[in-house]
Amino acid sequence: MLITFEGIDGSGKSTQIEKVKNYLTEKGYDVHVFREPGGTPLSEQIRDILLNSKEHIHPLAESLLFSAARAQLVATRIRPLLDEGAIVILDRFYDSTTAYQGYGRGAVPVSEIEQLNALATQNLEPDITIYLKLDPEKAYQRRKDIREEDRMERAGADFFKRVSAGFDDLAERENRIVALDSSRSPDETFREIIGHLEQRIPRL
Ligand code: ADP
Ligand code: TYD
Repeated sequence: MLITFEGIDGSGKSTQIEKVKNYLTEKGYDVHVFREPGGTPLSEQIRDILLNSKEHIHPLAESLLFSAARAQLVATRIRPLLDEGAIVILDRFYDSTTAYQGYGRGAVPVSEIEQLNALATQNLEPDITIYLKLDPEKAYQRRKDIREEDRMERAGADFFKRVSAGFDDLAERENRIVALDSSRSPDETFREIIGHLEQRIPRL
């Protein structure tokens, strides 16, 4: 079972993933969480370039770097765990590339980003994607005091509006994506997430 979480920076993904992981672990499931980009030594090195490099990174190169980090994570960690029957939870997956590099940067057509996503994951699709929907201004307010902006977050307010609209488009197109209002309390959002997971995980 592959569960992915998506949404703009500060939308509450890490908060909800922690709760869901604890909930499923207590129920006896073998649960593994990875963040993207990251989750393997090589993918973490690529993450450092993507979030901290002082170089200008061309949007195509950026898309390929996110995809390279993902290819390594899928092939060496996610696939083997899924084959063993584990539950894998991802803090972002390829929908982020579609939203950030496709809709946000706008320099590579969304259709080409989607081909790249299929290649990097070897067509692995999530069973369910939880999209935590939050107004970009609210997300900025939530994250601004807790951490310094990274290279992606410095792209600015208009960029985040395009990314957010991209996630909205994706959620309308894809049945696996469940869009949830993340402006509510963490517990309210969590209860709704569990309701959706119960429909998909047998015996939960
Ligand atoms: P993300 O992983 O999507 O960047 P986080 O889970 O790190 O988001 O949340 C960003 C900030 O907002 C954190 O300080 C977190 O404690 C806070 N936060 C998370 N969920 C909520 C919520 N439902 N209401 C208010 N603040 C929240
Ligand atoms: P991270 O700190 O993990 O996200 P968050 O701020 O939501 O906790 O940072 C990852 C950044 O990389 C975030 O700005 C989204 C961006 N990103 C892309 O642009 N494309 C991608 O494919 C992925 C996975 C992330």
